[in-house]
Amino acid sequence: MHVTSHNRYSLTPKTFTFSDDEELFRRILQAAALKGIPLDYLQAHLLGQDTHQDDNTEAVDYPFASPPQSLQDVATFLKSSQCQKVLILAGAGMSVASGIPDFRSSNGLYATLDASALTTTSMEQEERIRMDPSYCLDQHLFMENPLPCLEVNREFVLGIRNRQWKATLAHRFVEQLQVQTGKLCRLYTQNIDGLEDQCPGLSHSDRIAVHGSMDEAACARCGATMPLNEFCSKVKAQVKDITGQDPNAPSNSTPIICTTCGSPTVKPNIVLFRSSLPKQFFQKVPDDVQDVDLLIVIGTSLHVAPANSLVWRVPRRCMRVLLNREAVGWHLGLNFEDNPRDFFAQGDCEPLMLELMHQLGWLNNLSPLLTSKALPESSCALLQERLALSAGSGDTAEKATGASSHQIPLNSAQPLGHEQKVELPKQTSDETSVT
Ligand code: OAD
Repeated sequence: MHVTSHNRYSLTPKTFTFSDDEELFRRILQAAALKGIPLDYLQAHLLGQDTHQDDNTEAVDYPFASPPQSLQDVATFLKSSQCQKVLILAGAGMSVASGIPDFRSSNGLYATLDASALTTTSMEQEERIRMDPSYCLDQHLFMENPLPCLEVNREFVLGIRNRQWKATLAHRFVEQLQVQTGKLCRLYTQNIDGLEDQCPGLSHSDRIAVHGSMDEAACARCGATMPLNEFCSKVKAQVKDITGQDPNAPSNSTPIICTTCGSPTVKPNIVLFRSSLPKQFFQKVPDDVQDVDLLIVIGTSLHVAPANSLVWRVPRRCMRVLLNREAVGWHLGLNFEDNPRDFFAQGDCEPLMLELMHQLGWLNNLSPLLTSKALPESSCALLQERLALSAGSGDTAEKATGASSHQIPLNSAQPLGHEQKVELPKQTSDETSVT
């Protein structure tokens, strides 16, 4: 079979020869997974369907007067009556200020992972993790050997349980967006840290944890749940600490046995690679992407499908804003140079969020968070500095915007496991796997 690739990914068109369809299909899947291209995007492209991309030449009636060139422009649009529906897609960068590392930065979880510290059962396992550290979060590996996954997650399971990390200004922005405007359609977060739980202005239906969360534990084989307290105690007592910080941790790991089926496969309800996202994701996305006016993407490499598919599934008229350390998403059609609807604000989330909230006139609403010490220290300092600056200059967007004076309630910090939880339907094993 001969195939000419007409790709939009800056690759030189080539003619490949494959022995059969299956081999071709396998290669396409591999290439797509490697580039983080969602399969439905790929399928739509191959079938010539509308992917909302801007290589479609039909004129678009944008709801904003001119292309966004600053966060001030974004704020102006957000406040306008033309902007009614806002979607947010968040990733690990949103929580970095709280002290949780991301995955793919040079100081992120994957780059700093020492494969030799993990309990592998064969040289092949260790080698695969060394070659691709995300393999320690792979469903197939977990069913074969659950220990690398538990060891990598030990610190997070216990840290989240102990409320070691605080919601950041980025989380507070999402909360303010809902409290002040009611325009938030949904926060889709790839994070499993549950820091949104610390924002009482966000209801459970306002957000979807697309890669699951650490606030429940269950057996990956039979689905039986394990009370969170019991699971955390077992993690503490049975899983070794690869960070070397807990002197009471055991020196060898043993798996956590399911009391229902006896299988050594109990894990937090996080989504592993090659397993499916919560059904809720697939149920909500089709409606949520309809008529979105503004998509805000925060702190993600957009590397992982299908969460990243939101970027191309929103309508062509939707303004798309990325707040991140580096520009990402070209493989999904984001184009910050030539596309009038795409805007990239480069930098760390916290100062960018402060700037955006300043432009929206919401900074004063955050003052109670200083009193209650609800923010990470560095974010607290940034906010204090910014408030002082605004007060000193007398030049504050707060007055100009006529911002509402709704104050968000202070944190009602409760230990995890005592909170109302998002209903996360059981995973399925269809084509909707995370890649
Ligand atoms: P990544 O680590 O892939 O990407 C984080 C992005 O945030 C990178 O582009 C960073 O440059 C940027 N970043 C880091 N710190 C930042 C900061 N303070 N301010 C602004 N930007 C910052 O994390 P995700 O995209 O969330 O999935 O990763 C997606 C998924 O891959 C995760 O949910 C996880 C992972 O493997 C599973 O485990 C299934």
